Amino acid sequence: MLLIPLSLLALARASLAASSTAQQLLVNDALAAILADGAPILGFDGGCSQSEKTCDWMRNYPDSTKLVHMNLPGTHDSATWNYTQETQDSLFRFTGTDIPPASTFQCQNKSFFDMLNLGIRVFDLRFAYNPGNDTLGFHHSQALLAPDTTVEDVWFGFYSWLDQHPTEAVLISLNYESGTGTPRDLKLEEHIYDIMTSSLASRYWVQTNGSLGTLGEARGKLTFLQRYDYEFLPASESKRIGIQLPPEAWTDNSPIIEIVYNTSTDQIAYIEDYYEMDGLPIGAGAAENIQWKYNATVAHLENATLYNPDQLYISFASAEHDEDVETPIVIALGNGTDTPGVNQKLLPWLQERKGKRFGIIMLDFFDSMPGLVEAVIGL
Ligand SMILES: *[C@@H]1O[C@H](CO)[C@@H](O)[C@H](O)[C@H]1NC(C)=O
Ligand SMILES: *[C@@H]1O[C@H](CO)[C@@H](O)[C@H](O)[C@H]1NC(C)=O
Ligand SMILES: *[C@@H]1O[C@H](CO)[C@@H](O)[C@H](O)[C@H]1NC(C)=O
Ligand SMILES: *[C@@H]1O[C@H](CO)[C@@H](O)[C@H](O)[C@H]1NC(C)=O
Ligand SMILES: *[C@@H]1O[C@H](CO)[C@@H](O)[C@H](O)[C@H]1NC(C)=O
Ligand SMILES: *[C@@H]1O[C@H](CO)[C@@H](O)[C@H](O)[C@H]1NC(C)=O
Ligand SMILES: *[C@@H]1O[C@H](CO)[C@@H](O)[C@H](O)[C@H]1NC(C)=O
Ligand SMILES: *[C@@H]1O[C@H](CO)[C@@H](O)[C@H](O)[C@H]1NC(C)=O
Repeated sequence: MLLIPLSLLALARASLAASSTAQQLLVNDALAAILADGAPILGFDGGCSQSEKTCDWMRNYPDSTKLVHMNLPGTHDSATWNYTQETQDSLFRFTGTDIPPASTFQCQNKSFFDMLNLGIRVFDLRFAYNPGNDTLGFHHSQALLAPDTTVEDVWFGFYSWLDQHPTEAVLISLNYESGTGTPRDLKLEEHIYDIMTSSLASRYWVQTNGSLGTLGEARGKLTFLQRYDYEFLPASESKRIGIQLPPEAWTDNSPIIEIVYNTSTDQIAYIEDYYEMDGLPIGAGAAENIQWKYNATVAHLENATLYNPDQLYISFASAEHDEDVETPIVIALGNGTDTPGVNQKLLPWLQERKGKRFGIIMLDFFDSMPGLVEAVIGL
């Protein structure tokens, strides 16, 4: 008598297993399709074999570590990594040909999955409508980066990477990119608001607002740094996550920015975002432009090592002087062996101060300077 219920149970288990296997196949297929759509921004995840030291570097830090105490390597204008002249030329049908060369927009050369595996934990992204004014995608000023890739595709990419790296915490800074020629309207704001408050997002984004907590709370999740306002959607103020660093408080092109992001607890973000070396005359040359940017960066980093240990510090090591000939890559890496870039100069500066708090450092072409990410983290 006992055998029958037992075998029924086994049968039920087997059919449950079969249906969950089918379910799993469906999930895997759907995820693979989304990641393929996201590939122009996400790239492909090659795994950790080339980056064992950095792939899961946060697992060595205790849960109780405050995010503001950590050194977090980030990438400035992260989504530009494949914006070569070839990519720009292929998108002329959307942007027109009256657009500065791709080298003035390209700030990176590694895909998002490569960045993650190489230890990058802060991403600087700028969204606007894709062509058609329907889906949301990524831009850098007039440069459209991937016309068929959506913000949702890219968030899925982060979620899937975090599922495989549950000890890691990733911060996403999101700006609205103006100057793309696409409209800014209520539909756009409803769309981004829906993305950020969906039930899936509430599983993968840290849900606290107005403060940055501990690494333990942020592991396996994305933390939101909101750099845009809702202009058409005031009701959205009813739910916020992360911290707000609004554009009207983020002084343009400034070496010293202070934003109070929580007045009741007096939480302040100290930011250096001096990105256009327009204080220098045209023709000043690469060496002079690089020296100015380097000075602004280390002046801010020096303060991060000395003051306000419980406040957030964000320092951009990236810049350009486009009216002159200094593109982002020239500022980051120099113009040849005789003139080193900010990245070359920053490496020994960081190494000499190993163990100190630097905060978030946003880099261009970080991968071209071996050891730079490890020096930021303090590995
Ligand atoms: C990078 O850009 C090139 C040239 O536009 C393109 O062929 C290639 O598919 C792009 N890479 C990805 C991962 O989308
Ligand atoms: C980017 O990396 C590729 C190899 O992956 C290299 O051929 C290319 O020169 C690099 N471009 C820049 C701008 O660093
Ligand atoms: C998108 O918006 C731009 C700017 O308002 C407009 O010129 C263009 O026609 C719109 N495209 C579509 C497909 O609606
Ligand atoms: C300020 O931070 C506190 C403590 O983390 C939090 O409870 C509160 O909601 C925040 N306030 C605002 C306005 O974000
Ligand atoms: C911020 O979070 C607190 C809980 O920490 C919550 O009570 C409050 O409603 C949230 N505020 C917004 C604007 O989302
Ligand atoms: C690089 O910049 C230096 C100093 O600004 C200048 O003297 C030199 O000619 C430049 N080299 C190249 C290859 O452009
Ligand atoms: C940069 O800082 C160094 C050291 O403080 C100083 O000697 C130099 O004049 C500064 N250069 C520029 C271009 O600001
Ligand atoms: C560094 O901190 C000092 C003291 O608070 C302040 O006067 C100075 O403006 C700060 N410099 C930068 C670049 O943040």
